[in-house]
Amino acid sequence: MSTERKPLISGNWKMHHNHFEAIQMVQKLSYILNPQDYEKVDVSVHPPFTDLRSIQTVLESDHMPILLGAQNCHWEEKGAFTGEVAATMLEKLNVSFVIVGHSERRELFGETDAEVNKKVKAVLKANMTPIVCCGETLEEKEAGKTEEKVIGQIMSGLANLKSEAVGGLVIAYEPIWAIGTGKTATPEDAQSVCSLIRSTVKEKWGSAGEAVRIQYGGSVKSGNCPDLMRQPDIDGALVGGAALDPDEFARIVNYRLVG
Ligand code: PGA
Repeated sequence: MSTERKPLISGNWKMHHNHFEAIQMVQKLSYILNPQDYEKVDVSVHPPFTDLRSIQTVLESDHMPILLGAQNCHWEEKGAFTGEVAATMLEKLNVSFVIVGHSERRELFGETDAEVNKKVKAVLKANMTPIVCCGETLEEKEAGKTEEKVIGQIMSGLANLKSEAVGGLVIAYEPIWAIGTGKTATPEDAQSVCSLIRSTVKEKWGSAGEAVRIQYGGSVKSGNCPDLMRQPDIDGALVGGAALDPDEFARIVNYRLVG
């Protein structure tokens, strides 16, 4: 990958770990990882909402260079939206990254491209970085519709954004058939879609295409991470299951030492 784009390894904990368990997780991680590990790679963890305040306190009081992330947010700043959490509330917890449009949110909770776009704008307005997810289902892949799906999600998810904003984003390519299934896209297939994403961004937003960081996600483990990270357009990984084991997640963060 390009030397200008610092890799970002993100652990998406999904609906795992209460705040006591979450504290133990980050303490273990900080024990395993050395300060120099963070010089080459940005690391973020994305616990459930109820853990964020506790993790923020631990990270800040122990000066841990792990960045805090959330898994979702609402686009409005306040109002009658029972059960929702505003991007501005996350900003107050020093959250750096917010995952937007994860396929589980789209598939299980009916999140649309238009909502993804509103969330991306809300996250940017609240001075955080969206990790915008895209990816095709197995049916779409088999029907040869991967490009159409991914380009469509990017164009609508990032609609009406300025080039400076797009350049600072993270895009996560996560083929849905690879999430939690143990099936990973081959490094070549993942590269080809990530390169398509980059050229799509370049075509529409110019130099933002070079700056935008693109993660791969879908059954990333320490064993397959080095080959994925060697691809020129893959700048990081969005890790689900393997991020729940601090030793394995630390090996992924240190993918350079493994492969
Ligand atoms: P997985 O999940 O690593 O368990 O496949 C990735 C994700 O959903 O972000």
